Formats: sequence, C-alpha cells, structure tokens
Amino acid sequence: MSSALQPEALLSYPTISAALAGVLFIVVKTLYGKRNRALKSRAPIVSHLIPWVGSGLELGKDPDAFFDRARRKYGDVFAVKAFGRVVTYVVSPSLMSEIYRDPQKYEFEHIRIIMNIEYFGLPASLMKSDITSEILHPTQHKYLSSTGIVPVVESYTTAVWELLGREGSKVEGVSTPLLDFALPMIYQASAYAFFGRSCPAVDSYQPFRDFDETFHLVLAGVPRLFLRKHVKGLATMQNLFKEYFDGPHDDASDLVLDNERVLRSHDYDSGIIGAFFISLLFALMGNAPNAGYWLIALNLQRAEGLRPLTCEIDEAVATWKQQNPGQNIEDHLHEFVSTAKLPLLTSAIQETLRYTTSVTPFRRVNEPAELGGYHFDTDDEIVCVTRAVHFDEEIHENPWEYDPRRYMAEKRFGKNGKNVVNHSMFWGGGVSMCEGRHFANKELKAFMVFLLMRYNLEIDPESTERPTFVMERIGAGVMDPRGDLRVILRARK
Ligand code: HEM
Repeated sequence: MSSALQPEALLSYPTISAALAGVLFIVVKTLYGKRNRALKSRAPIVSHLIPWVGSGLELGKDPDAFFDRARRKYGDVFAVKAFGRVVTYVVSPSLMSEIYRDPQKYEFEHIRIIMNIEYFGLPASLMKSDITSEILHPTQHKYLSSTGIVPVVESYTTAVWELLGREGSKVEGVSTPLLDFALPMIYQASAYAFFGRSCPAVDSYQPFRDFDETFHLVLAGVPRLFLRKHVKGLATMQNLFKEYFDGPHDDASDLVLDNERVLRSHDYDSGIIGAFFISLLFALMGNAPNAGYWLIALNLQRAEGLRPLTCEIDEAVATWKQQNPGQNIEDHLHEFVSTAKLPLLTSAIQETLRYTTSVTPFRRVNEPAELGGYHFDTDDEIVCVTRAVHFDEEIHENPWEYDPRRYMAEKRFGKNGKNVVNHSMFWGGGVSMCEGRHFANKELKAFMVFLLMRYNLEIDPESTERPTFVMERIGAGVMDPRGDLRVILRARK
C-alpha cells in the first residue's frame, strides 16, 4: 500500500490543497492584477520642458529624428503633447494594421466631417446630414473607383498632352525652374479633368498654394488670425468657385455634375457648392502635383538621370506602333498610356511616394480600447506615423537612398523574420484609404510618359541649387520642395 493511502497522509491533503490554492490565488491575482494594470495604463507622454508648447517645436524641427528617438525610448506607442494638445502616435506596422482593420473602433469619417466644417467653411447641417453620408460621399467614392475614374483620366491625358506641348515650347532650350514648369501644369490638367475647361484652373493656382502652404499650422492649432495668406487664399478660391458654379460648366465630370445636382435639389447655392468642391480640390491638388515634381527631380539627380525611364517608355511606344501599324499614337493617348506595361516607372512612382510622403492617418477612438498594451478612452486621437515604417532599416534596405527600382524585384519586405504586408502606406489604410489613389497613379504615369515622349530634360549645368523637403509640414502628405532645380528641356525628334 502506498503511503498516499495512510490516514495521516489523507488528512493532510485538504490542508496542502488549501495552502496550494491560496498560493495559486495570490500568484494569479498578482500576475493578473499587474497585467491588468499594464493594459489599463495610458501610453507614456514624451518628456518635454515647456508645459503648453510641449514637444511642439522639437517635433516641427525634425519629425523623423523626433519619432526615431521617441521609438527607441518609449517603444511603438507614445503620446506627444504639442501646443496644448495630446495625441498618441503609433510607429509599428502591425499596430497600424490593427487600427486600419477596425474602423468601428478607430474612425476617420468623423474627423473628415469636422475638417470640412472647420477648414473649408462648410455648414455643419450639411456635413452631418444623411445627404453627405448617404449620397455625396458614396457618389464621390463611386466615381473615384478604378473603373469609375476612367472618363476623368481620359480628359486628363488630353489636357496634359496639350499643356506639355504648349508650355514646353515656351521654355525649350532655356534654363527653367522645374517648379514653375511642372507644378502649374499638373494642377491645371487635373482641374480641367474634374471641372472642365471653364474652371478657374489658372486663377486658383496661387490662392490654392497660399492656402495649402500653411495648412499644417492650422492642423497644429495655430489661430488663423496669424495666417493671413491662408485665409485670403481660401476666400479667393471660394469666390472663384462660386463664380464657376454660377456660370456654364457642362463639360465638368459626372462626379461634379451629379453631386452639384444633389446639392441644388436641397437648395444649396453656388457658394456652398463651391466650398464643397474646394475640399475635393484640396485632396486632388495637395499631393499629386508635388509627387510629379519629385518624380522628375529625384531621378534627374541620379547619375543615370531620366535615361532608364525614357528607354522603357520608348520601348513601349515602339511595341504599340508594331501592334497598331498605320495608326497615330497621338490619336490613342489614353489607350496607350493605360495599357503600356512600365514596371520601372511604376516602381519609381511608388518609391517617390515612399520617399517623399509624410502621411499620418488620424483616427478617433470611438469606444474604450486597448492597443499595444495601453488603454485609450473614447475621443482619444491616434495617428499612424507611416514614415517611420517607410524608413525602418529592417523593412526597407538602405531606406535613405532613393532607389527607383526598389519595388521592381519580387522581393518580400519583412521585420523580425515576419513578412510585413503594409510596408508602404502612402495611401493610408483600411476603409479610409485614399479614394483618389487610382486617379493619382494614372495621373503620375501619364504625366511622366508624355513628358519623356516629348522632351529630353537635363539639369542646367550652370545651376547648383537643389531642392530639399519642407520637413516641418508633418502629416501634410507629399512634402513641398524647399528650393528648386533648374532644368533645360529639348524637344525630341
Ligand atoms: C500622391 C497623391 C496622394 C496621396 C499621397 C494621398 C494620400 C492620402 C491619404 C494618406 C489619405 C488618408 C487615408 C487614411 O486616413 O487612411 C487620403 C485620403 C483621401 N484622398 Fe488622397 N492622396 C493623394 C491623391 C489624391 C487625389 C488625386 C484625390 C482625388 C482625386 C484624393 C482624394 C482623397 C480623398 C477623397 C480622401 C478621403 C478618403 C476617406 O475619407 O475615406 N487623394 N489621401
């Protein structure tokens, strides 16, 4: 008989069990309590010296270095106090996926509505109504989809081909600032594609830039009292677009005409309709023209210049001509550019966006949440710092090098031995991912293809100035250039 069946031993079992249960209870309670406390704690706030200003100045001066330091010290989630406001920043791709996957909990729509009311002067009664959520925004979404956008892209290709011919011939052989040549042209061609030829594409260009230039300061909470150019720019655009909607504009895209009809049927006047479309204009022009500029400027500064892109395009033209004997490519520009396979250009566009964007998708926390081990309350704001992923050395080899071939090879992007699917997030993510990405991709492709079909470009050998990024425009999308590059264009035979 084993000792376990001895009566004394049997008697001691409840005692031992009770003691063990007690110890277990204390251990579990302590561990669970600790874990629970950890889950319930708030994200750490980056230390700062000046109370209200917080980390605002440091953040504005060099955002990349600031986020890098904060990540090393605090991990993947930290809060930053700047100009009286506390916002939590997330720098890891897996946590960003978690945010994008749950739009109920981490929502953008509310922020979009508030931005339209506060920054574009739209009435709250309209933006918060079913008209916006059930008709206007879904209509816009439909027309910006990959199939819905085709007629707009067709108009864009016609416009940008014409403008390249006209504006290029004015400066042929003459040293020209790249900014003055490229930016207004992309702006005008996009405006014509969406709003038709009667829209104030030329007159609204400078007011738009005045408005856009300091937009990041408005986002940071700087009172508009101090931002005269910004306020004046918006007022001028509002007048121009009011006049435009008062006048004939039958050649505008269906996106514009359909939503205008809805607004008029609810008694909104040309002033409000203009303001509504200025918010679309802002999305349309805030990033893509700068991206077109950088696509040229960054490639021109490489030793091989624009030659590899030009060769790829020349080959595509030759193939098209072989397949369509006797046809003039100028009569089939849209068809050519939308079917041409250009892997180097496609990769160069992606690399340009990886390299030049400071994209910080914002989400409002809709219900108490836990993310990365921290607790968030309803109405907290979380920002995904996508640039931290774009420049993570483990995910992207030599991230500080601009490499137009980066996205060409069938390579996987990973970290800690795991595949990182969302390695490049210049369009944001989830249900609020940029609606205009189909247009923007096609717009950049067409602009570059037509530019290089028509011209050879080189940096003016006499000029030494080179553009850098306006880094302090954190979150403003594709960064503006500070300074410029002078180029010489020569028409190709
Ligand atoms: C290179 C060009 C562009 C970049 C880098 C860009 C980037 C972005 C980003 C990061 C967002 C926020 C996404 C998020 O919160 O997850 C966004 C939203 C948006 N973009 Fe773009 N964008 C570009 C061009 C365009 C164009 C050309 C249009 C219009 C034709 C456009 C229309 C919009 C709209 C309507 C939204 C709001 C989407 C929503 O609320 O669901 N974008 N964009």
